[in-house]
Amino acid sequence: MTTANLLAELKKTRKAKNLSNLDLISVENITLDDLELILAVARVFKKFITDGAKKCDLLKGKTIVNFFNENSTRTRSSFELAGKHLGADVINLAGSASSGKKGETLGDSARTLDALNADILIIRDANSGAAFQLSSLVRASVVNAGDGWHEHPTQALLELLTLREKFGNKKLTYLFVGDALHSRVFGSQVRLYQKLGFELRLAAPQTLIPKGVENWGVKVFYKIEDALPGCDAIHAIRLQTERAAGKFVATGREYSKNYCLNLPRVALAKKDAVILHAGPVIREFDLRTEVLESPNCLVQQMVENGLPIRMAVEWLLATNKTKKKQPW
Ligand code: MLT
Repeated sequence: MTTANLLAELKKTRKAKNLSNLDLISVENITLDDLELILAVARVFKKFITDGAKKCDLLKGKTIVNFFNENSTRTRSSFELAGKHLGADVINLAGSASSGKKGETLGDSARTLDALNADILIIRDANSGAAFQLSSLVRASVVNAGDGWHEHPTQALLELLTLREKFGNKKLTYLFVGDALHSRVFGSQVRLYQKLGFELRLAAPQTLIPKGVENWGVKVFYKIEDALPGCDAIHAIRLQTERAAGKFVATGREYSKNYCLNLPRVALAKKDAVILHAGPVIREFDLRTEVLESPNCLVQQMVENGLPIRMAVEWLLATNKTKKKQPW
């Protein structure tokens, strides 16, 4: 597909619509129309990539800054590649290499980047609310690439694209297993799937269950075997040990014995149930290798779908003619 064909296809899909927000901080701010727009545009980009093309110059002259203050493999490389495939200038700034190490506040670092005329600022930070705070300080569109325990919206979107490819628009019975309490991926997924009317379940030890999760429509189970029957999709959430989650279980070995997904457990779900994981997967702890390598495990497909989803988000935000107000 040539860039001209790609652009024509994108315009046809977009129908001159814009996302209702100039930042992407939380799934809470995504309307159902926004959601369908992002998925539709992502499908066009996916076709562009799978047809063998890599680069187009749709965002030539735009600047995208990846400002990652926490470790990342998948998310950072996929945001970076997305910007590069779109032809933008992409700057990668790691927390360890930024002036934050010398004592500059996150807000001041962001203002510096903004003064350089960044169009999109993609932020990952250990503090919940960091992306929201920045969004009010800069002119660039802010994309939340994971803030503390709060949210990771593009991770939920890429998973939804993957689920739609398998199940279409079906309302699914969806089971989370593991550390929902500390997981920002869970924070975005639960908001998203609640909007879509999924039947939501969570299997975890009591200490890893967020307070009030029932108010989000999530049915809680302590025994994974009780939660699995009837499920279409099972998402294993990593124990977020960098957020001290290890202190919330008696021993890792016991946790894994009770919640690690193995083939006999998966067999309790529906026959074609899919296995999901945001990565990094801790083999034999979250998922047995036999499950990770089984045909119904969509972990690799999720990683692949991260690229078109992030291209869609970056393209839709950077080409929105409405601009944020000067915040100072
Ligand atoms: C995240 O950044 O939250 C990851 O994608 C998921 C994880 O670290 O478990």
